[in-house]
Amino acid sequence: MSLHDVVLVDAVRVPFGKAGGVYAQTRADDLGVAVVKALLERNSLDPALVEDIGIAATSQTGDQGVTLGRSIGLLAGLPNTVPGYAVDRMCSGAMTAATQIASEIAVGMIDIGIAGGVEHMGRHPIGSNFDVNPRFLVERLVAPDALNMGATAENLHDRLPSITRERTDAFALRSQQRTAAAYAEERFSMQLLPFAARDPEGAWTLITKDEPPRPDTSLQALAGLKTPFRPNGRVTAGNAAGLNDGATAALLMSADKAAALGLKGRARMLAYAFVGVEPEIMGYGPVPSTIKALAKAGLTIDDMAVIEINEAFAVQVLAFLEHFGIADDAPHVNPYGGAIAVGHPLASSGVRLMANMVEYFGSHPDARYGLTTMCVGLGMGASVIWENVR
Ligand SMILES: CC(C)(COP(=O)(O)OP(=O)(O)OC[C@H]1O[C@@H](n2cnc3c(N)ncnc32)[C@H](O)[C@@H]1OP(=O)(O)O)[C@@H](O)C(=O)NCCC(=O)NCCS
Repeated sequence: MSLHDVVLVDAVRVPFGKAGGVYAQTRADDLGVAVVKALLERNSLDPALVEDIGIAATSQTGDQGVTLGRSIGLLAGLPNTVPGYAVDRMCSGAMTAATQIASEIAVGMIDIGIAGGVEHMGRHPIGSNFDVNPRFLVERLVAPDALNMGATAENLHDRLPSITRERTDAFALRSQQRTAAAYAEERFSMQLLPFAARDPEGAWTLITKDEPPRPDTSLQALAGLKTPFRPNGRVTAGNAAGLNDGATAALLMSADKAAALGLKGRARMLAYAFVGVEPEIMGYGPVPSTIKALAKAGLTIDDMAVIEINEAFAVQVLAFLEHFGIADDAPHVNPYGGAIAVGHPLASSGVRLMANMVEYFGSHPDARYGLTTMCVGLGMGASVIWENVR
């Protein structure tokens, strides 16, 4: 086997919704079908050329349960000769799908693949249908609160007392402001796929924008919010990502195949790493996964011209920034805002980070390297290092 360069050709997502919001009447898999179809159509790609499709979901049941890569592929019009599979690494599902498809391409077993994620947290509330093995608690493999992501964020605050509620609220406000600015600059027009959804009365509505952002929020409003995960805690609905519905998909190819088809790669995958950390502080995961991925790429954090880090919780982003000595308001970190504003439909978010990064690459030709990274439930971190190939 010889190694092949892998490029990200395109990344698309439906506008994210609030659980119980614009997609309340929409099936989860239909969100995934829309993004896969869009990739094929807007890249004028013969569907028969796709050689594998991996689609992630955290809750693999009901309309997210029928081996999503295969079922979404067939529903999106891929011929039945194209195989597909389902992926689960909780929040990093789409990121894992992307690195798996990329690895298939890198070792030369396929030339073209699609990776993505779907999560309808309205239809599949976080943790629903989980039957957690009692051994976890009986044998004290994890603390009881390790399975509650908000509680793990409070634990991270305990470990890092320098990260105060004031700092997380200020970060959350910036996420909202940067998202609003990015909308005003039409930064999301390449990645957002308008989606027609039925409202509760049965009428069709075209969803063109993310539902969760709150551009009018203020520090005062944020400071007044309750702390649902602990009395007198620090994590609030304002400095955490919400409960959301969405789907994303990315088109990955060998660089040679993209060139042969006349398609432009927008980023080259250089390295990736997934690591485990203490489940009680799962938000710390991006620190060791980034250290490992950077080492694999032979680069340093200072080489990263843009960092897209998923904002599951502000405290977890600030823990990452503090570790690497990066300012809370560094302009190259989540330049277009993040999940605190646009939402975090768990397994779909990894590809949203990639879409934002290639948007940045496109308008910053001097930006050579980029990082996409996220924390993962049950104590993991995920990081992918990319090179701008514009
Ligand atoms: C934090 C969480 C429990 C809040 O859920 P919720 O109570 O349904 O959230 P809401 O959107 O209703 O917000 C709660 C209140 O805060 C207010 N609020 C939320 N964000 C706000 C903001 N930016 N500015 C001002 N007010 C805000 C809402 O208006 C609401 O006010 P109300 O009670 O007066 O109606 C939920 O979003 C959560 O669990 N998030 C984490 C998800 C998660 O674990 N993901 C996985 C990560 S690994």
